[in-house]
Amino acid sequence: MRSRYAWLLVGLACQDLANALAVPSSQGRDESVKPPHHRVKPQTVQLVSPNQNAPGKYFHEASFSGHYDGRFASGKLPYDARREHLTALTHTYFKTMNDIGIETWLMHGSLLGWYWNRNALPWDSDIDVMVSERSIDHLANYYNMSMHHYAEPGREAGRDYLLEINPHYHVDSTSDTTNVIDARWICTQTGLFIDITTLRQNRSAQAQGIDGAMMVKDNHHYMYDDIFPLRETTFEGVNTRVPFAYADLLVEEYGPAALSKTTHENHRWDTEKQEWIPLSCLDFRTCDDFHNHLQLGTNAAEMAEHMPAQPAAAGAGVVAGADGHHAWGPARPKKVDVHEPSRPARPAGESRPPSAHVYGEAATKSTHGSP
Ligand SMILES: *[C@@H]1O[C@H](CO)[C@@H](O)[C@H](O)[C@H]1NC(C)=O
Ligand SMILES: *[C@@H]1O[C@H](CO)[C@@H](O)[C@H](O)[C@H]1NC(C)=O
Repeated sequence: MRSRYAWLLVGLACQDLANALAVPSSQGRDESVKPPHHRVKPQTVQLVSPNQNAPGKYFHEASFSGHYDGRFASGKLPYDARREHLTALTHTYFKTMNDIGIETWLMHGSLLGWYWNRNALPWDSDIDVMVSERSIDHLANYYNMSMHHYAEPGREAGRDYLLEINPHYHVDSTSDTTNVIDARWICTQTGLFIDITTLRQNRSAQAQGIDGAMMVKDNHHYMYDDIFPLRETTFEGVNTRVPFAYADLLVEEYGPAALSKTTHENHRWDTEKQEWIPLSCLDFRTCDDFHNHLQLGTNAAEMAEHMPAQPAAAGAGVVAGADGHHAWGPARPKKVDVHEPSRPARPAGESRPPSAHVYGEAATKSTHGSP
């Protein structure tokens, strides 16, 4: 009973999408034999981009926000819905990449979120991931424009995710500033996406004898040994990887305070819950203080968009030590348990080639889904 109804919804959702994307009709199939998860063949997806961005730029964001794909978004999502969709994007991205055997790992804000509680930072508008050069080649060759359908447990209808590879991905010059994003994992229901960038060898640096110099088109640079060997861990409940020297990378990018500061972007770290909690009236002496704080905040506009609805101002509570901006408290996340790979010994005088593991077989064999 329940499952028949669910399949009907999945069927309808797919039908709408299929029409929108000119995918052959799925109507009239025997529902009873329809597999729970399927992917549409890559070559069937045809999309026309609205051409409102810089000339030569491949990916086109929505006019109202750079965090949404203009082809799929109809508006910004409220805080809770955005978080739910980002979590689903994260799950489906890593499940798919793990299935295909793509070498991918967390970076930037997502790595910082992982450091604190192995979840995304709730105020972060995106998820940051990197892939190796071999992996982006594999995605471009076999998975460009592939549509991946996921029916996650507890959700009525499934969702479709598009994996799209920038044709400029093989240009490894940082002067290609409009195409620094090599690929995207896009939620076709909301337009939210995950940006995928490639870690490359910095060939000019290596030619100058700087062994292990790596680069990303967005002008970040790393040493091979800071990233590899990757550590196996979990993020948002799915298996993933983080760079070997994650703490060094975080300190370099965000400063040492990033690993100890317990208020950030109008959230405070709750040591007991091991969670970032949005500030509310309860964190201030009075609700006026809270609203003044929001007014004074450097990111009041962003904030209003990202804050969940506040509970009605019931008697002003006080949370000791929360000045809303500069609590450089001693509270730290619980020690994260990560797989500690031992560094393979490097033969003296020999440079290690960049890691380039592509596991798995041809695209057409892949199926995904929750157990
Ligand atoms: C991926 O497919 C799109 C649509 O056909 C195409 O415009 C783009 O150039 C392709 N990307 C690569 C890396 O081939
Ligand atoms: C690559 O190496 C060269 C030479 O050391 C350096 O000038 C350049 O900034 C590096 N590129 C990146 C993106 O790190």
